Amino acid sequence: MKIAVFVGSLRKDSINRRLALALEKLLPSGVTFAYADIGSLPLFNQDEENNPVPSVTALRELVASADGVLFVTPEFNRSIPGVLKNALDHGSRPAGKGVWRNKPAAVLGMSPGAAGTAMAQQHLRNVLAFLNMPTLGQPEMFLQMREGMFDDNGALGEASAAHVQKFVDAYLAWVTQFQPQ
Ligand code: FNR
Repeated sequence: MKIAVFVGSLRKDSINRRLALALEKLLPSGVTFAYADIGSLPLFNQDEENNPVPSVTALRELVASADGVLFVTPEFNRSIPGVLKNALDHGSRPAGKGVWRNKPAAVLGMSPGAAGTAMAQQHLRNVLAFLNMPTLGQPEMFLQMREGMFDDNGALGEASAAHVQKFVDAYLAWVTQFQPQ
């Protein structure tokens, strides 16, 4: 099973990228993460949608070949980062040829603030609903970054790992439901 992973931050030390990498350590064998390179995408311009540059083609191929799509995103000004919306827009076009439709999705995120990206996740859910992506409802995963959250190997501490493992298991069961028989 291949999961396309979209991290909504381009920052080298992104806590959301660290979260995605920590999640990867909780996967059972046979499940792999493939990370989308959203930083290499141009700003979406509808004039170019029929002449995609290689980074757009790569995004489309990644999603098309994936069994599911996982969004690990920070919250920017109570919404999703523009770089992530840009990627969503690219994958949605040209009309009728979008790649998102029917791909089982899940969203989670981490913030230094107590709200743990809740508002961004709700905005993202709106977009995913329009794109016709069946999105895991529960458990929700709003994480607050705390000192010592990740160990030296990038793994989550015991308590957080147990909490996040439930999310991972629920998402993989969700994806399985949508796999062709
Ligand atoms: C933020 N941050 C932030 N945090 C939050 O909880 N709610 C918010 O609305 C915002 N808004 C916001 C806007 C912008 C432009 C920046 C740069 C930051 C703080 C944010 O959660 C923090 O910088 C995280 O560390 C960003 O995630 P990454 O890059 O570490 O994954």
